[in-house]
Amino acid sequence: MTERPLGKDLLGLEPLSKEQIQLILDTAEPFKEVSERVIKRVPTLRHKTIVNLFFEASTRTRISFEFAARRLSADTVNVAASGSSVEKGETLVDTAKNLEAMRIDMVVMRHPSSGAAQFLADRIRSNVVNAGDGTHEHPTQGLLDLLTIRDRLGRIEGVRVCICGDILHSRVARSNIWGLTKLGAQVAVCGPPSLMPREVSSLGVTVFKRIEEAIEWADVLNVLRIQLERMQGGFIPSVREYYRVFGVTVERLEKAPRDLVILHPGPMNRGVEIDSRVADGSHSVILDQVTNGIAVRMAVLYLLAGGRPELAEAAKRE
Ligand code: CP
Repeated sequence: MTERPLGKDLLGLEPLSKEQIQLILDTAEPFKEVSERVIKRVPTLRHKTIVNLFFEASTRTRISFEFAARRLSADTVNVAASGSSVEKGETLVDTAKNLEAMRIDMVVMRHPSSGAAQFLADRIRSNVVNAGDGTHEHPTQGLLDLLTIRDRLGRIEGVRVCICGDILHSRVARSNIWGLTKLGAQVAVCGPPSLMPREVSSLGVTVFKRIEEAIEWADVLNVLRIQLERMQGGFIPSVREYYRVFGVTVERLEKAPRDLVILHPGPMNRGVEIDSRVADGSHSVILDQVTNGIAVRMAVLYLLAGGRPELAEAAKRE
């Protein structure tokens, strides 16, 4: 494994070309099957050591990266901020340099500050994968959303995708907007003006103020979590009011002119941004997103390690 088709790090979808994004999605395809085996493991990254460095809570992303690394036979170590020397005031760079001194190969990092992944990538030799940095980007979530849309609809180009809810605080929204627009989807956002970034139209998206308009327009809704921990600033009057005006409900979907595909990155607030009957219903691909997350992350780790895309199919047979 010599070439690095993605470069050293994966920090976001904004810096990637359409071809690089497609390459990751195509490389994920053969890795899907590995997770369906009795022995869910190939030896591809047998000599690599990957550290999952999580400074913020996570269920899906952390576990998914760990499964992805293990299914490629890499050694993994999980480091959370609580219980580490970060609690004693150690800086991010010192923590990472100490990990590098233990001869690691890659760091997968989630951090509450936007730009933290880039900051780290500029200072260490190991590959850095952004697992979500502040409100900036969550590239592997964007990639798994793209793969799930492609699986369900057979294409991404021309598909109408509306991202609904708290766009202002959402790194998932940003990665989706970059990925979808690069692959030729039509993208819209919908939510209250208080949760809409001022510059959003400049990203090439349509803005809907009413969820009914979004449902009438879209093929796919990507429903974002209302980040209750950030709602102290009076962004919405109450969660009940939000659900009444913007909730994705069965009654609203029944009025759609076509069958919609419903995505949600999780964790969900049932009865706030999404009706439980929608989350668990036939339109929902929410658990397919979680399954695809492992294949996408296997592809990212494989490509960053210098794996040749055309050999991914062979790698799974090793
Ligand atoms: N979608 C997502 O990032 O979920 P977690 O916060 O549980 O990782």
